[in-house]
Amino acid sequence: MLGTALVLIAASLLSGGEAGAHGDLVWATGAMDARAGGAAQDIVEAWNQLHPSGPKVRIEALPDSPGDQRQQMAIELAAKSSEFDLLYLDVVWTGEFAERGWLADLEDIRARIKDVSLQGPVQSATWKGRLWAAPLTTDAAFLYYRTDLVDHPPKTWKELAEVGLRVGKEHGIAPFVGQGAPYEGMVVNYLEYLWGSGGDLFNSDGTKVQFGNDPSALTALEFMRNSLQSGLYAPGFNTMKEEDARNVFQSGNAVFMRNWPYAWALSQAPDSPTKGKVGVSALPKGGSDGKNTGTLGGWNWAVNKYSKNTKAAVDLAKYLTSPEEQKRAAIEVSFNPTIPALYKDKDILAKNPFIGELLSTFTNAVARPSRVTGSKYNQVSSEFWNAVHETLSGKSQAEESLAKLEKTLTRLSRNGKW
Ligand code: GLC
Repeated sequence: MLGTALVLIAASLLSGGEAGAHGDLVWATGAMDARAGGAAQDIVEAWNQLHPSGPKVRIEALPDSPGDQRQQMAIELAAKSSEFDLLYLDVVWTGEFAERGWLADLEDIRARIKDVSLQGPVQSATWKGRLWAAPLTTDAAFLYYRTDLVDHPPKTWKELAEVGLRVGKEHGIAPFVGQGAPYEGMVVNYLEYLWGSGGDLFNSDGTKVQFGNDPSALTALEFMRNSLQSGLYAPGFNTMKEEDARNVFQSGNAVFMRNWPYAWALSQAPDSPTKGKVGVSALPKGGSDGKNTGTLGGWNWAVNKYSKNTKAAVDLAKYLTSPEEQKRAAIEVSFNPTIPALYKDKDILAKNPFIGELLSTFTNAVARPSRVTGSKYNQVSSEFWNAVHETLSGKSQAEESLAKLEKTLTRLSRNGKW
């Protein structure tokens, strides 16, 4: 693989170093990110060999959890620090980072990106009409299931509960794993139940919080609470993040898993106990008349406005999001490309056969309200995960949590002025 990366870099890169470059070109990314291991390091070494006059690229491993990554970057950027040049941004952070003036404007590369990318990822990198990041990968959650234990994926969450509980009991394994710890990932899980039952958080222009009186909001929350009580959710669900869920599922200890595309490549690794035993489908619907609604996730590369190596950082962002590099990431670590043409690429399909079939899952995925709430998204999200968690842990009833949450969100929304 290193060979491929070197050839690709040599083929598509760039002129020499930046005149007047300062220090290293620091690429800030999560410590456990699949690409921060071997693949990312290979790219860095190849890049540095091809750019002997610098700046030299160096990976700065941030904490494992995206929430901690966001916080660490925010601390640096709020202090106008040039420490990190290239920022690995969750799609829900664009508005906040752009609004706070932390990002270099990438309008110059918009035309190049817009014409070859899916709409959702481009919008996720846009704030107030300007482009602030280069789309790298788009995420929509899948339902992973054990093909040796169930014939076909369930169509509704109700069916999933019935099958999961029965099959889990027969085999002495957990029926379902997903993300229930109090953090962004749990908000996403809740939203999928809410959207799948036809509900929403705000009215279409984001001026009014509307979910508190929406029966789907209660249905979604009660589904989560009941699933914890009935044992549909694996023990420890309310502390699980993506990797906890994956570890249980991949070790053969769950029938179903809700997770992002990255879990596919790992589940099919040569030493994976679930190799050859995993099917992938769209998430179940909220009910027979509901929708299969995944949440739009994903990651983009942005450039620190205070960087002293802006040109080199933009060049590296361009390279990392190029078709060649997105293809490599799709094959090696099942990162879903943001470039639709790659969904027909035969090398990618050979490794991830579901990718072509599930393209509509990505194009139909629903964005979280960060594009409405801008810099307040993190606050909205944490109010949310606290409310859901209080219900799951039995500290408050579902109705009570939702009423309180609606009040808080209405206050934060300042009549849609956010
Ligand atoms: C994935 C998604 C990201 C989301 C996060 C939640 O990394 O790509 O958008 O916020 O999961 O845990």
